[in-house]
Amino acid sequence: MDTLHIKGGKPLTGTIPISGAKNAALPLMTAALLTDGEMHFENVPQLTDVRTLIRLLTELGCEAEVGNGSEETFGKSLRLKAETITSTTAPYELVSQMRASFWVLGPLLGRFGEARVSLPGGCAIGARPVDIYIKGLQAMGADIEIVDGYVHATTKGGLKGANFRSSLVSVGATHTLMMAATLADGETVLENAAREPEVGDLAKCLNAMGAKIEGAGTETIRIEGVSKLQGTRHPVLADRIEAGTFAIVAAMMGGPIKLTGLVPETIEAALSALRAAGADIEVGEDWVTVKREGERLRPVNVVTEVYPGFPTDLQAQFMSLMTLADGPSEIVERIFENRFMHVQELARFGADISLHGDMALVHGVERLTAAPVMASDLRASAALIIAALAAEGETIVNRVYHLDRGFERIEEKLSACGAEIWREKA
Ligand code: EPZ
Repeated sequence: MDTLHIKGGKPLTGTIPISGAKNAALPLMTAALLTDGEMHFENVPQLTDVRTLIRLLTELGCEAEVGNGSEETFGKSLRLKAETITSTTAPYELVSQMRASFWVLGPLLGRFGEARVSLPGGCAIGARPVDIYIKGLQAMGADIEIVDGYVHATTKGGLKGANFRSSLVSVGATHTLMMAATLADGETVLENAAREPEVGDLAKCLNAMGAKIEGAGTETIRIEGVSKLQGTRHPVLADRIEAGTFAIVAAMMGGPIKLTGLVPETIEAALSALRAAGADIEVGEDWVTVKREGERLRPVNVVTEVYPGFPTDLQAQFMSLMTLADGPSEIVERIFENRFMHVQELARFGADISLHGDMALVHGVERLTAAPVMASDLRASAALIIAALAAEGETIVNRVYHLDRGFERIEEKLSACGAEIWREKA
């Protein structure tokens, strides 16, 4: 298995182009199943999760072709055409590798009236049930049975528009139900819907395909079903989690680092926490510059919330930053029940963190020292890299395959700013 090596303590300055978002690309790609027309995506990040979904889509009969991309952002174009689907079964081997594969349930059921999709199971950060997806599709008239670990969904004469209020805000259920509803008969109203920017990006693409969706980005989404959707061209939204991660790196190391090609308002919660920690932030139309001068970081409490609150996907990275703050900070995780696996690994750098239910209490220390560490999930891996950049000595990060699921060329981007970071191939 590959390892990442990082020699900490180097000043970092420069410009980092932000890639297309994994969490926008994945739902967009599943939307290709809604049409027999050709979909052209641009700015698609080259990540393991994207490749896993391409494998699933081709297994279902979809044509897929990765084209040239931009030298600047590294993203590639991707052509998908689901003209003829040869299977409506998403197998365990692929869905268990990546939960977002489960989202094919909505488009398959909407277009073909049938889908058999493996239950994803739990993962390192929590149990992650799919009850809301199932209740929402049942409200639209689907018959759903769970057989042999698979969700088997069918409809008699297609899905019907429905009013559905979700018991909690779920990004994946919102994507899935919104896609299913585009081809339902009549109007669907999704209440307590996720407002994450990736939901808005998916709705934008679906509308360009001929869907009639209003209100994406608010908690009530209205979808007037249409009989057919066509192919379109769509650039993938910039990755707010990648941008937030590099903003945290800049605050940790001092910067200045300029992040380009992003939508600054999508990382406002993170930027305001960084300002409170002592960072100076300049915001342009599609760029952000982060720097920090002077004394130690100030401690800042954060609570993870649904968008526009502080994102759970930046919790580990922010905790890493707070390990060097001048005082105690409280980091509360409200979205997932087990997203603190990085705490023990951060302790290996000399961080002082104790866990109290859903709250991590971080007592800032004056310095971190390098250590061999193990990545436990995607965002936790980024937290370890942030600690390693600041730590004295050489850190070795094991299990970097987690990182390759969601951060495009992170070593290259950090090296370009002066970091001493390299990968050793197994
Ligand atoms: C998406 O996961 C993201 N994944 C996650 O990013 C992100 O952490 C999460 O949203 C929250 O922002 C992608 O976009 C591919 P949820 P998703 O359904 O949709 C509970 C990353 O690192 N829930 O909004 O799976 C669930 O257990 C990842 O890139 C139910 O109880 O998240 C969780 O506690 C990890 N029943 C909460 O809701 C359901 O039916 C929010 O989950 C569905 C969800």
